[in-house]
This record gives sequence, structure tokens and C-alpha cells, in this order.
Amino acid sequence: MYYLSIEGKQKLKGSVSISGAKNSALPILAATLLSQNPVSISNLPNVADVKTLLKLLENLGASYETTQEGIKIDSSTVNSACANYDIVRKMRASILTLGPLLARFGHCEVSLPGGCAIGQRPIDLHLKALEAMGAKIQIEQGYVIAKAPEGLKGATIIFDKVTVTGSENILMAAALAHGVTKLVNVAKEPEVVQLCEILKNAGVKIDGIGTSEITIVGSYGKLLPLQDIKVIPDRIEAGTYLCAGAITNSKITITDVIPKHLEAVALKLQQMGFGIEITDDSITILPATKILPSDIETTEYPGFPTDMQAQFMALCTQADGTSLIDERLFENRFMHVSELSRMGASVKLKGHSATVEGHRELTAADVMATDLRASSALILAALVAKGTTKIHRIYHLDRGYENLEGKFSALGAKIERLEE
Ligand code: UD1
Repeated sequence: MYYLSIEGKQKLKGSVSISGAKNSALPILAATLLSQNPVSISNLPNVADVKTLLKLLENLGASYETTQEGIKIDSSTVNSACANYDIVRKMRASILTLGPLLARFGHCEVSLPGGCAIGQRPIDLHLKALEAMGAKIQIEQGYVIAKAPEGLKGATIIFDKVTVTGSENILMAAALAHGVTKLVNVAKEPEVVQLCEILKNAGVKIDGIGTSEITIVGSYGKLLPLQDIKVIPDRIEAGTYLCAGAITNSKITITDVIPKHLEAVALKLQQMGFGIEITDDSITILPATKILPSDIETTEYPGFPTDMQAQFMALCTQADGTSLIDERLFENRFMHVSELSRMGASVKLKGHSATVEGHRELTAADVMATDLRASSALILAALVAKGTTKIHRIYHLDRGYENLEGKFSALGAKIERLEE
């Protein structure tokens, strides 16, 4: 097992290029199940979750080759509609195959992903929507067994809650359904928007892209001519590097980003006293004379993302005063608190709120990564801690951050990946 060793108190400088978005790459790969032809995908991030989904698609009968720009994947050859537990348990987002498999084959079996460190994470809204489209669904021995022998039918679906992968699953199902589907209370995340654009580019008639109401005309089961795709930049990776600049109070630039996707994050950093310079495809963070505390409430896009909550908590330990963080999306997304506390942070938890007292001198410790974003908070804390921090269980980080040590080292961090 590998761990990261980080020597703190180094200033950072320079620029870092942001990779493709994991959370866009995953629905894109799932969407290739709807394609009648091979699809070239560029800017695909080299992270464990992408490899897991590629493996699942291969298991179902797809094949792919790596190209200079990324991959070319042929999912037209898929001949199985069973996503088994061995792979699904590694990554919850495997559930993204449910909608496309059911729409294409009229039946499928997808293992239930189960809970995870940040909470129960049910998929009831995915299932309810598919049922509204005529699917018969049973849960047997840990599998979702879904049938729609006559094909899925267009329907009006009002999501009780905004769900990102739920919206994506149903968009993909609707693209192949019989008739018109109207989706209300759809997620507006840039990753959902990219998926809609991909369907539109394949000739699907789809209205309301980027809004919470989308109408989509299905193809009556006909596979789609998916065009080549370039994955959008990872706004969460980008935000994490901005926080690295912030917590070390250094000037760094992130490049190859879409600044609009980072509006909420950039605004919070500005409110905390940092300078922000924006170009068409880059953001530079400039040091603050004094780091101010912040009140943060996580919510759906375009609000402040839950996937940036842990990183901002690390940053708030260095602010001058008390910050309040309200986690609105997931019930148990404070796993990083106990590890940050071991490094000297003062955080009080009450229900879904955290009060962070700053400024606190952090000191190095052995800490454990618990989930993907929680682990990046530990890296940030380690960058300002006195001494050398060891972060264990970094497979969580490898799920979503490409070339992590390479990118941090290039910015001047003293970071190494070592074997236990
Ligand atoms: C996606 C992202 C994840 C991000 C999250 C919220 C991917 C691969 N993952 O996860 O990084 O943290 O959005 O922005 O894109 N819910 C239900 N029933 C459902 C589905 C969701 O109650 O059927 C609840 C969840 O428990 C949660 C909320 O809805 O409280 C939002 O979850 P959702 O948007 O579905 O998260 P994911 O799509 O799993």
C-alpha cells in the first residue's frame, strides 16, 4: 500500500494544468452504450474510477484502444446487460450503466452500489423514474433487475430531489425511449450539461439544456451516432489546486479550465481575502493580506459544491476567526474532521454543521484518507503543517486526482508517494 509523505510549510508557485472531469468522463463512458459506432474521447482523466468503468464496459462486451488524444471505444459490441457486484462495489457511479443498458436491451441486471463513507446514498430516484417510464423493477440478491420488454416509454418525471447521476441516468434512458420525456428538477451541473450536448450532437432533440426542465425526444430504441467527445475540465480538481494556493498563501495559476464552472468557489476565495484573476481558460489566485473566515453552505450547482467542502474546511483552519460550514447534501460528509483535528484543527460538529476555529497552527501527523474529497483536505492541511505528514489509504485520492504528486511537486510542494 502506498502513502503520501508531505513536508509542510513550503510556498507554492507556478501553474498547473487541470485534467478532464472524472464526473463527466463517467457518464460519457456510460453513454457510449447508446452509440451505434465507436467514439473517440479526448481529455479523459487517467484516474482509477475511469479505469473501473472501462473495465465494466469491457466485461459487458465493449472494446477500446488508447489513442494519442485519449481512447476510442466501441460499445456497439456489448452483448451482456449484467453489471456485476465485483466491479460495481468499487465505484458507485457504475449505476450510470443502468439507464442505458435498460433502454438498449429492454432488460438489465445491475448490482446495487450500497452505501459509502459519506452516507447511504440511495438510488430510489433513479428507479422511480425508470418505473415511470414503464420499467418493472425488482431488487433480488443485491441486484436491480429491470425489465421493459417493449422498450422504455416517454413520461413526465419530477425528481423529488436534485440528483446528478440520477438525472444523467434518466437522460440517457430517455434518449432511447419511445416518445417524449419531460424531466423536471433536473441537475444543472456542467457534467449534466455536457451529457445533454453529447446527446444533442448525436441528433437527439433535446430542449432546456442547462435548466431544471428538460424535454427529450427518444429514438424508439435506435442506437445513436455519437460524435467525438472532449471531456470538460475537472472543476473540483481545479478548485482543490486553488485551495492549495490559498492555504499556502501563494500565487498559483490553474490552466485549461472553464472559469464559469468555478464561480462559486472563486467568489468564496475572494470573500476570504484572496485576489482572483480570470482569463478565458485560467484562474490565478493571489495571496491574501489576512485570510478571513467564511460561511459556507453546500448546495447544487451553481451553488457551492459539496465536493469542495472538505478542502475549504482545511483552508478555514488558517483563517483569522470562526467559519461556519453547513453540509446540505450528504449526511456524513465530515469524515475528514477527526483527521484534521489530529493535526491541530479545532472543529466542532453539530448535525450537518461544522464550526471551524481559526487560525490554528497545524502539525504533521499520520492521517488516513476516508473518501476522495476528504483526502484532498488532508493534503491541503499537510501543505501548511509543521513537519512531515503521512497520508495513508491514498487509493481514495487515486480515484479522482490525476498525477497528483507530479502536479503538486511542479508547484513546489515537497510530496512523495512511498510504499508502506
Ligand atoms: C454526484 C457526484 C458527486 C457529488 C454529488 C453531489 C458523480 C459521479 N458524482 O454524486 O461527486 O458529490 O453528485 O454534487 O457525478 N439522493 C436520493 N436518492 C437518489 C439519488 C440521490 O435521496 O436516488 C440524494 C443523495 O443521498 C444526496 C442527494 O440526493 O443527498 C444528491 O445526491 P446525487 O446528486 O445523486 O449524488 P451522486 O449523483 O451520487
